[in-house]
Amino acid sequence: MKVICPQCRKEHNVDESKIPAGAKVAQCRACGHRFPLFESAAAEPEKPKTRRIGVTLSKGGVGKTTTAVSLAAGLALAGYKVLLVDTDTQGQAAYVLGMKPKAGLTELVTGELPPEETIVQARENLWLLAGGRALAGIKRLIDRKDFGGELTLVEALEPIEKDYDYVIVDTSPGWDPLTVNVLFYVYELVTPVSLEVMTLQGLVEFLKSLSSIQKYRADVTLNYILPTFLDKRIKNPDAILDKLKDLYGEYVCTPIRYNVRLSESPAYGKTIFEYAPGSHGSQDYRDLVRKITGRPELFA
Ligand SMILES: Nc1ncnc2c1ncn2[C@@H]1O[C@H](COP(=O)(O)OP(=O)(O)OP(=O)(O)O)[C@@H](O)[C@H]1O
Ligand SMILES: [Mg+2]
Repeated sequence: MKVICPQCRKEHNVDESKIPAGAKVAQCRACGHRFPLFESAAAEPEKPKTRRIGVTLSKGGVGKTTTAVSLAAGLALAGYKVLLVDTDTQGQAAYVLGMKPKAGLTELVTGELPPEETIVQARENLWLLAGGRALAGIKRLIDRKDFGGELTLVEALEPIEKDYDYVIVDTSPGWDPLTVNVLFYVYELVTPVSLEVMTLQGLVEFLKSLSSIQKYRADVTLNYILPTFLDKRIKNPDAILDKLKDLYGEYVCTPIRYNVRLSESPAYGKTIFEYAPGSHGSQDYRDLVRKITGRPELFA
């Protein structure tokens, strides 16, 4: 029989006679994800073809934007069609990509402009729906709705997502109506955790908020905990990493090392793959792309 991993979509040919009696859980050999064995194939058609991934954690400065942009750019380099959506009023995603789009997510959500005038092509295979200060207008629009405000983003993105293999959504620090909207849109979450004790607390708090959303939307799962700012010079990064692995096991990805090239590249409007392809930052984000696609052979 064919079993499709609900996370990386890898198809596995499984010899049914070798499945132990009573086995209920399977583990994907490509990405390590565990999932209910017999529900996986049945549940698969319900999900859209496009993978919707949110990059989020309430705490600021943990590497969300760096991760969203690098993941989106890495997937695009691997040949996937990617839409990067910036839901942050800081509008950093456009800056990091060296762009100044005239319109973006706000105009798409309000319907002020047709979708093709709100989405800009940033690189080959990579498109951007920019954030920025205008997003405050969307927050007001959400607040004014009598009901269904949390589905505002779903309603805006669903009609356009079919053109893409991946929609990667960057979020703002904190917890606001747009963050809630992102959690009602995406199926998968990448949560960067800076390797400092304080952010571990941030993760615990975020998980509490997430579980309150999951009561209404069970589909959204935190699949990837991404340790960031790994720096062997700071005290005890391994202790924090070990604790993360104890608590969250296979969800913990290979850490992103502290790499000065990652902090330099935005000023040049270049992705890490363009600015410093051989750097640790570039290597580590390529690794994340391999993990998320479940394709270890990529970029070999
Ligand atoms: N692994 C890294 N090594 C060195 N610098 C990094 C790394 N990751 C991110 N940075 C830098 O750290 C700063 C914060 O990163 P980033 O903007 O990605 O965080 P953020 O979580 O999106 O912040 P905010 O919550 O304000 O949106 C940026 O200047 C970025 O260039
Ligand atoms: Mg950011």
